[in-house]
Formats: sequence, C-alpha cells, structure tokens
Amino acid sequence: MINKSSLAIISEPCPSTDRIEYDEALRLSELEVRKCLKTAPPLIRRQTSHLARAAGKGIRARALLACSISSDGFIRHDAVNVAAAVELLHLATLIHDDIIDDAEMRRGIDALHVKFGEKTAVLCGDFLFCLAFDLASSISPRETDKDKIDDVLPPYLTEICLGEIREFSNTGNLDLTEREYFRIISGKTAALFQATFHAGFLLSDEPREAKDAYIETGKQMGILFQLVDDCLDFVSSKKKAKKPVLTDCRRGVVTLPLIYALRADNTLRGKMENGLSEQELKAAVIAAGGVEYTQSKIKNCRSKAKKLISSLGSENKQIRLELLLDKAAAL
Ligand code: IPE
Ligand code: MG
Ligand code: MG
Repeated sequence: MINKSSLAIISEPCPSTDRIEYDEALRLSELEVRKCLKTAPPLIRRQTSHLARAAGKGIRARALLACSISSDGFIRHDAVNVAAAVELLHLATLIHDDIIDDAEMRRGIDALHVKFGEKTAVLCGDFLFCLAFDLASSISPRETDKDKIDDVLPPYLTEICLGEIREFSNTGNLDLTEREYFRIISGKTAALFQATFHAGFLLSDEPREAKDAYIETGKQMGILFQLVDDCLDFVSSKKKAKKPVLTDCRRGVVTLPLIYALRADNTLRGKMENGLSEQELKAAVIAAGGVEYTQSKIKNCRSKAKKLISSLGSENKQIRLELLLDKAAAL
C-alpha cells in the first residue's frame, strides 16, 4: 500500500540545474502560463489578461509533470514548457467550447465570449492553440528512439475536435446510445489527457514499452473526469462548480445520467417532450438511478486507472498520479 505521506522524503539532492523537483516544476509551469497570458501581443492582451484572472485546477499540468518524473525522482526542466502548453491547449478548447455551449461563466468569471464577443473569443482561442504548439515544439526527448512531442500531439487534437463535432451533431438526440456517448467523451475530453500522459512519458526515462500503459492511464483518467463533470451538472451547485449547473439538458447535450434514466424509466421521454422543468428533470434522472449508474462507471475507470498507475515508474510518480486520480474523481 502506497503511503501518501512519504512524498516528502522521496527525492534525493538534485543532480544538476536542468533537473528539478516536482513542486518547483509545477510552480514554474503555472508562472509560464501566467507569463504567456500577461505578455500576449497588445492586440489580444485585454482578453488574455481576463483569462489570467482565474486559474484552473491544473490537473493536466500536474499529470504531465508526474508522468515526466524520472527514476531518480527529478524532472527535466523543459517539461515545464510542455506542462504550460497542455494547460494553454486546454484553455483554448474551453474558450471555443463555451461559445458552442452558450456558457456564460468559466472558472467563476465571465466566459471570454460574454465579455469580448464571439469573434474575438474564437481568435483568442486560436491564438492560444498556436502559442501552446510553439511552447511544446523544439523539445526533443533525449533518447533517440522516442518521438518528438509536437509530432505526437496533432492526432489527439483531431480527436478532441471530432468529439466536440460529434457531440454538437447529436444535440437534442434522446436516442443517443451509451456507446456513442463514450465515443464523444473519449474524444472531447480523454484525448487531451492521453496527449498529456503520452508527452509526460516522452519526457521521462521510462522505456519505450511503457508508452501504451501511460496513454491508457490518460484515457481512463480523462473518461472519469468527464463522467464526474456530467454527474456534477445534475448534482452540484453553481457556487461549487464555478459554472452554472443543469445546463447540459437545457442545451440539448445528452449525457450518461440522462441516457441511463431514459433507459430505466420509459415514461421519462414522454414527460420531457411535454416539457419538464430543470428541477423536475434533475429529480427524475436521480430517481431513475442515472447518477448512481454513472458513478458505477466512474468506479470502473478508477480501478482500471489505479491498476495501470501501479505499473508506472517509481513510487513517487505513482503516489502523485493516484492523488490526481482522487482529485479528478471527487464528486
Ligand atoms: C468540455 O466539455 C470539453 C472540451 C473543452 C473539449 P463540456 O462542455 O462538457 O465541459 P464544461 O461543462 O463546459 O466544462
Ligand atoms: Mg461546455
Ligand atoms: Mg461542451
């Protein structure tokens, strides 16, 4: 059993300046994100400064840095830029997602398009995508048999876009199957986690054969993350989630709690077609067991991810990834 309190005593003295400890790497990557947002070209700086007012939880940066930990417990300094890059990529996808979803709030403040209009927000999202690529490029794994980070990222980004397109083309589709739902979330959310874990693996000194286990761990953590998000839309509050809740159904986004509820309660569809209030829908989905069913799926992902994590690198890495998994699974 891993003892989480043992984290403090794992690292030995740092061997050289281009190798840093996890906490320092995380601090520097957060600084890098802020720097990118605060020093963007004046043309777009009002927008990026608005974004800098509310930081995210940094789950992806933390995951990347944890995956980058080498067997001596240290992290290559250039992992800092890649961690910042995945956070900027994530931010770019959120800006565009908020336009598509008509979301008014993100991270507790006005969504970018609410404050500056949709056209500017689209451009700002594009700008951050490019900035992220700039940061991630030029970093080569030291081992010659490993891929370059900017070579492996594009297919994951394609999957994110396809996931968002698939979700959009199923707007209001009460016949959406569980299988298709999982396809959507594997793209729109899990693909960036996969990219994160893949890039972290490339920065570590793990052998080539370990690659698939990293990518699969990212996939499970990403799916779990979206399942939690989709439950929270039914059971959380605006204050806690830092964004409005009960919004998915209102916007025609059909998620697993509803898919299950429609399956379990064959009167629900008719009721929805006749018009249900948000509170009535919430109660019906919960009563039909939709949230509970989704929680059982979360539990499955969690145990799959836990098992995979136990095969990755050192104990130091495993402890950090398990802590992140706990954080992502918190309902
Ligand atoms: C966001 O999905 C996924 C991407 C940004 C690609 P959601 O639309 O379900 O997430 P929230 O609720 O806006 O955070
Ligand atoms: Mg959204
Ligand atoms: Mg969305």
